[in-house]
Amino acid sequence: PFVVTENCIKCKHTDCVEVCPVDCFHEGPNFLVIDPDECIDCTLCEPECPVGAIFPEDDVPAGQEGFVALNAELSRSWPVLTVRKDPPEDAGQWDGVADKLQYLER
Ligand code: SF4
Ligand code: F3S
Repeated sequence: PFVVTENCIKCKHTDCVEVCPVDCFHEGPNFLVIDPDECIDCTLCEPECPVGAIFPEDDVPAGQEGFVALNAELSRSWPVLTVRKDPPEDAGQWDGVADKLQYLER
């Protein structure tokens, strides 16, 4: 499956959800995750993310391997999102900021 990684936190552009053919994106307060049991590896979402936060499970950036389990865990309790919504007003300021995991809201 594909995995949403750290740079989505506090950016949350949601362009990704519109292209997913199986509606497997789930929404939290400031982050999205992919349900690994539903993702069919179609690859469509990867280029849609303006901040490059989506990767194949086998290719997540070094140090972000924990996001594989985090997507699986959070997708079980967060609701599905299928329609794009406006990102946070300060999303642009958070693109590429290091160590954003500490800001993840559940
Ligand atoms: Fe959805 Fe395809 Fe992305 Fe998987 S790879 S989350 S099926 S758009
Ligand atoms: Fe996050 Fe990128 Fe989607 S910022 S919400 S993975 S478009």
